[in-house]
Amino acid sequence: MIMSGTKTLETPRLHNALARAATHSPSSNKKEKEQEHWQSPARSTSPRYISCLPAAEMVQTTVFLLVLSLALGAHSLPPKKCNLIGHWVNDLGSTMTISAVNGDGVFSGSYLTAVSATTNEIKVSPLQGTLQRKNQKGQPTFGFTVNWTFSDSITVFTGQCFLDKDGKETLKTMWLLRSRMDNIENDWKATRVGTNIFTRVQSQKE
Ligand code: BTN
Repeated sequence: MIMSGTKTLETPRLHNALARAATHSPSSNKKEKEQEHWQSPARSTSPRYISCLPAAEMVQTTVFLLVLSLALGAHSLPPKKCNLIGHWVNDLGSTMTISAVNGDGVFSGSYLTAVSATTNEIKVSPLQGTLQRKNQKGQPTFGFTVNWTFSDSITVFTGQCFLDKDGKETLKTMWLLRSRMDNIENDWKATRVGTNIFTRVQSQKE
């Protein structure tokens, strides 16, 4: 029994009526049968029980379903995933922006290195990469290439986007920097290797 305003509502009867409405089966209870008959639209051949519930019961049911859906929704929120899109800074002070990841996991962006193996003036350079999407459990692996616009070199990065218990994202990467050599005899010294750790730069809006 539930009190709703000044009207007393019998919830077992309400729930019986709702259950029958869902299956379109009429009541076997005499008292309810009379009520359903009285409430059925005169011209309808198949009574629509749900639309004939008293207004107060409809309101109560709506509120109940709303609270239930909110409670269920709170538990079924998808877990946060590590997301490459955004602004990042690494342990050398280099910055990069990943602007978009498409449906195939292909992404692009720009990179501004803080250091260089050359004496050239450093300029923003484009990057292109791919995110692995299979079985990543929200912490995807990825690879990207930076094609330096101010030198003859190219760098490939490979890494993984990690998410800690506080939701903080970290990109752990390893890179190979290939410099151009004038002749094959110098090939042995053409490639540098290293690691970089990137953390997200929060934009002003976030
Ligand atoms: C060059 O020196 O020819 C181009 C710039 C290379 C910068 C390297 S790439 C790996 C490491 N991580 C950075 O952020 N910058 C350096």
